[in-house]
Amino acid sequence: MKSLLASLMRQMTVLLVPLVTSLLLLLLQDNHVSADDCEPARCGNLTLRYPFWLGSNNQTSSPCGHPAFGVWCSAGGSVASLRGSSIHVLPIDYTNSSLVASHNKVAAGDDGVCLTNFNLSSSVALSPFTISSRNRALCFLFGCDGTVPPSALDYVNATSNCTAPVYAYLGGTYLWNSPPAIPTGRCSYSYFPVLETEAATMMAAEYSRLLKDGFALEWETVTVGDCPECSSSGGQCRYDNAAGKFWCLCPGGTRAWSTCAGARRTAVRLAVLPDYVQQQRRV
Ligand SMILES: *[C@@H]1O[C@H](CO)[C@@H](O)[C@H](O)[C@H]1NC(C)=O
Ligand SMILES: *[C@@H]1O[C@H](CO)[C@@H](O)[C@H](O)[C@H]1NC(C)=O
Ligand SMILES: *[C@@H]1O[C@H](CO)[C@@H](O)[C@H](O)[C@H]1NC(C)=O
Ligand SMILES: *[C@@H]1O[C@H](CO)[C@@H](O)[C@H](O)[C@H]1NC(C)=O
Ligand SMILES: *[C@@H]1O[C@H](CO)[C@@H](O)[C@H](O)[C@H]1NC(C)=O
Ligand SMILES: *[C@@H]1O[C@H](CO)[C@@H](O)[C@H](O)[C@H]1NC(C)=O
Repeated sequence: MKSLLASLMRQMTVLLVPLVTSLLLLLLQDNHVSADDCEPARCGNLTLRYPFWLGSNNQTSSPCGHPAFGVWCSAGGSVASLRGSSIHVLPIDYTNSSLVASHNKVAAGDDGVCLTNFNLSSSVALSPFTISSRNRALCFLFGCDGTVPPSALDYVNATSNCTAPVYAYLGGTYLWNSPPAIPTGRCSYSYFPVLETEAATMMAAEYSRLLKDGFALEWETVTVGDCPECSSSGGQCRYDNAAGKFWCLCPGGTRAWSTCAGARRTAVRLAVLPDYVQQQRRV
């Protein structure tokens, strides 16, 4: 009786182990597939989806978005930085391809005005982003060699909390690489984009707040692909990093370059799926 039971148990084990194993494998695979799905990711209040993607320290690309739009999330979601740089991402507006960003060097503390002696446009120059012309130019004069800025200029003395004199002037429209045409005397100058504001001159402390509030950046569909068109045709937006191109993953796994509408005949069957999956696993 005992040995019959034992043999029965052995047989059941022989039957059950492969069953359980394959079930487990199936579950694991299922999890893997959903992780590869490029679902929108969250960082604090931000929802990251194409062309943005949530990355981590050394990650340089993802099939889920354009390489320049990697966002690294830290400090419990309170910091979202563009690829770990000093450019922090505040709200994103996907409907008009724009976002509000800030530069950490001048936005981190309450003494931003004291730290404005650098060229912000060179931090953004190489990316597919442009500094929106809906920003205004906030100009700073410093290093005046013991002199004061030309009296013709309606500037504000923003020195009070700084170790060296700084003068601020809120100009008109921010034009990339085209500083406000103001007399600078013997001073060096820099200019920062800030969000449109009614007041022309304000208190020095308010200029630091303007730097904290950030500025508008825009990106072009030409660079990242027309994701709205792909989505509205029922597809999911993807980026082929090897080809440096946007593509659209259509229902049933077909691949189209821009839209799934009418793609049934033209789209090639997803023959590159193994490559694509490998790429996902590597990152
Ligand atoms: C990330 O990069 C650093 C320096 O380049 C390297 O030391 C580290 O091992 C990398 N980490 C991972 C997880 O690849
Ligand atoms: C998230 O949004 C809430 C409400 O709008 C706001 O109070 C909070 O400061 C935001 N958090 C971050 C990290 O931006
Ligand atoms: C995009 O929309 C926001 C409101 O969500 C608006 O403030 C901004 O002016 C728009 N940007 C452009 C470039 O039209
Ligand atoms: C800032 O950097 C940009 C891009 O590198 C350059 O074109 C521009 O002349 C610089 N502006 C100043 C004031 O140095
Ligand atoms: C600017 O303010 C600083 C400190 O508040 C003061 O020492 C300096 O004389 C002022 N400069 C001018 C030109 O008013
Ligand atoms: C100087 O610093 C104090 C304390 O951080 C702050 O309350 C004040 O607004 C600052 N003033 C200016 C002009 O930035």
